[in-house]
Amino acid sequence: MIVRPESDAAPPVNVAEGTVSREIFSSETIFAKELERVFAPSWAFVGHTSQFSRDGDYVLSRVGQEAVIVSRDKGGTINVLLNSCRHRGMPVCRYDAGNATSFTCSYHAWSYDLEGNLTGVPRLVEGYREALDRSQWGLIKARTEIFHGSIWATFDPAAPTLAEFLGDMAFYLRDLLQAPDGEDDGYEVVGGVVKWKMPCNWKFGAENFSGDHYHNFSHRSVDRLGISKSGKASRHPYAAVTAPFKFLNIAHPGGHTVRANLYDELNEYESMWANVPEVDAYYRKCHALRQKRLGDRARLFSRGGIVFPNMHYNTGGRTMIGIWVPVSASQTEVWRWLFVPRNAPQVVKDTLRHFYLRYAGPSGMTEQDDMENWSAAQRGTSGSTSRRYPFNYQLDLHEARRAWPEPWLGADAMVTAGVSEHNQRTFYARWNELMSA
Ligand code: FES
Ligand SMILES: [Fe+2]
Repeated sequence: MIVRPESDAAPPVNVAEGTVSREIFSSETIFAKELERVFAPSWAFVGHTSQFSRDGDYVLSRVGQEAVIVSRDKGGTINVLLNSCRHRGMPVCRYDAGNATSFTCSYHAWSYDLEGNLTGVPRLVEGYREALDRSQWGLIKARTEIFHGSIWATFDPAAPTLAEFLGDMAFYLRDLLQAPDGEDDGYEVVGGVVKWKMPCNWKFGAENFSGDHYHNFSHRSVDRLGISKSGKASRHPYAAVTAPFKFLNIAHPGGHTVRANLYDELNEYESMWANVPEVDAYYRKCHALRQKRLGDRARLFSRGGIVFPNMHYNTGGRTMIGIWVPVSASQTEVWRWLFVPRNAPQVVKDTLRHFYLRYAGPSGMTEQDDMENWSAAQRGTSGSTSRRYPFNYQLDLHEARRAWPEPWLGADAMVTAGVSEHNQRTFYARWNELMSA
């Protein structure tokens, strides 16, 4: 198919033709609209319950572009509060994480409790003459839901429930949060949230995690270096697994997508951590337990994906969840939570933590390749000539829906096998649906 130069009137996303305008990566007008249409009505991942061991614990996070405090109040309830004083907008909490009984604004000292209620106002009697109704001036509170330890929030009162928002993606989110032995809620966050900035639009990262599993070319150097502990020249421990499988692209109508291996049958454990015997022994034991616990479902080995629009994750011995925080059309903050199996021996937790830092994030050799690609591609989105020519998403464009015998893959998901840009097209189709509403 010939891709025609886009006219100024061309639609930003043409799902049928598999083209996407470059302008959606560089236009500040489109970016401002995204905040309202794409981020505001969606549920946002803001953290994990393992970050809160005591009442009063809090961490900062983001809902779309908004700065929030996630706090555990005296009754043990998790609250997600807009970190913006109702007086003049100062952040009322300026630490990344800690334990507190209240938040006092550093500008004029209004103070709020862990549930966001306005409790203290200087000059309440002599200045406001007690006419200030403090119950109306608490911190803005988000709707909050917890799913298998993951904490989600939205400020949109009209948004569907989290279960409705996730649809069949809930199955994969539950799978992500299961320990290597298949136990539900089996992970805990290790260390603080890793944060950094990158000079590109947030959608470069989102679409990459949604389904781009064919850019190995970019990672040739780190593959050859072999940072994996599998004993193979590779980035990933799971590269050691050679049992026959199909690579699946799983796309949900809500824009959520998954990359996964589906093994033809329950397979024997292969040494994913051959260079660290204690860790390998742990994973070997977990492999058998998981098959016993999950049965046929254990044939699925998820590798990563996204919860639309900007929560992204990796699995397979490198379990992490992140958010692409939209800062501007050409600036993104990345926040990344690293997870280790809660009940694993310390040597497993330490090995994983070190592996994550070598693999991903600003110090990670793999993600440095990705960020170089995305930030360089960003420069190709705004030139007076380049901006007129759309990007191509036609790989496997005409792949028909296949019937899969595994009902647990999801009733409403489109599942295709092999190399495809179907997940990316689904991501942009959902984006377009919301932007056009
Ligand atoms: S801005 Fe917070 S008290 Fe004035
Ligand atoms: Fe990559």
